Amino acid sequence: MYRETRGEDPPEIAQPNAYPFDWDFVDKRLLKIYSRAKKEHWDPADIDWSSVNPEDYDPLQKTAMAYWWAELANFENNAAASFAKALVHVTTNHYDNATQKVTATIVMDECRHDETCMRGCNRLCPNFLKGWKPRNDLEAKALRNIRWIYYNGGRYWKAYTSSYDKFRFPLIFTSFMMGEACASKLFNEMARKTDHPAFRDAFKHLATDESRHLAYTWFVLEDAIPDLTESERALIPKRLRHGFVYLSMILFEPPEEFWKLPSDFMDVHRKMEETAAGAGLGVLSLDEKRKAWQSTILEVKRKLSRYDLPFPDLPEIDVSGT
Ligand SMILES: [Fe+2]
Ligand SMILES: [Fe+2]
Repeated sequence: MYRETRGEDPPEIAQPNAYPFDWDFVDKRLLKIYSRAKKEHWDPADIDWSSVNPEDYDPLQKTAMAYWWAELANFENNAAASFAKALVHVTTNHYDNATQKVTATIVMDECRHDETCMRGCNRLCPNFLKGWKPRNDLEAKALRNIRWIYYNGGRYWKAYTSSYDKFRFPLIFTSFMMGEACASKLFNEMARKTDHPAFRDAFKHLATDESRHLAYTWFVLEDAIPDLTESERALIPKRLRHGFVYLSMILFEPPEEFWKLPSDFMDVHRKMEETAAGAGLGVLSLDEKRKAWQSTILEVKRKLSRYDLPFPDLPEIDVSGT
């Protein structure tokens, strides 16, 4: 027997909770991003990976390209869970429905990105992360490097999840901005540079998705600017620099202020990236990376200056703060 009295309203739902919900799509820009996400979906399985013939490469080239994909996976694999955490947060804190929907689309995008890494990596070195046997000391060190990158990824994950106890959502999202801006630029450049049509296809899709993610991070920040407190404004450069430092592993070179790595890490890392570039994967040289980071970040800086928001010092790429 139902015990509630007939005609009575239900009790208030204790918060935080995903309920109650409504279908308010407050902002047209978000609606546009959501529509784009639905139209731009793609399947990494449709890329012609069979055209990447392992026999076209020597053993070191295969290892080096698998290394690069496994390195990128450090940033793509946990991203699905990162945005899933964001999705729970925006839902239980009753951000409008469009915010929830857009965040949900990014969860699936990141699954696609991680699958792309897995396919690129395993096509060249099957079971690279589990079961693949290095054939010499350099290959063993390459795999060890990847495990070190993931160890640091684990430290980042801890910091990310605990950031929800310290900052409001827009502040958390600010550190994604650098990553999305620079990843979109990096993948565009790599799509231009790679020799292989399958890789070009993959990078084009990645670049399109990242540009959409960037539009979302701008939306979240711009929407929050009028309500930022003085101490939150002062935190912006720190959050931006965190994003820069973390993503520098793949987009530039890893700064010691976060990355804990063995002393011969960089020798092996540079050798792998150079070899992957020589094999036609499209990996940028350090100089090309510096230029790509710099131009993208100056654009972010210009846009932020419109709101009179401070910007961090990034001496690694010759960008000064404000
Ligand atoms: Fe991604
Ligand atoms: Fe992204």
